[in-house]
Amino acid sequence: MSDSEHIDLLRNAMQNAYAPYSNYKVGALIISENGAKHVGCNVENASYPQGQCAESSAISAMIVSGDKYIKQIYIMSEDKAGATPCGGCRQRIREFSDSDTLIKLCSSDKTVKTLSISDLLPHSFGPENLK
Ligand code: THU
Repeated sequence: MSDSEHIDLLRNAMQNAYAPYSNYKVGALIISENGAKHVGCNVENASYPQGQCAESSAISAMIVSGDKYIKQIYIMSEDKAGATPCGGCRQRIREFSDSDTLIKLCSSDKTVKTLSISDLLPHSFGPENLK
């Protein structure tokens, strides 16, 4: 699947976001270890703290499928500068990634920036710290 097909899948996820309170729609697409695709979007709630980020939804979909490694994660918002994951989602991505993981920050039609987890979360705490 080409990068532009990934962008189309991602845009579709973003458009399906339930974000009536912030009006800030986010989509996420994970490509996991075997090339499987897992999409997510943000799902807000009238009780604001119960809302869920797009990255969390996509990670849940990956885990439900049995996969545990993020080869690539695309994150999209309508912001022309590209989406940027919140602090909590940086830590959630960290759990299932390594230095080869590509984190692609996208606007509604293209990848704006590609980063690694250590760019987003330097000196991080992760599963190895508990071994
Ligand atoms: N949001 C995400 O889905 N992912 C992020 O990493 C940043 C924030 C959502 C949460 C909320 O529904 C809306 O964007 C505004 O904060």
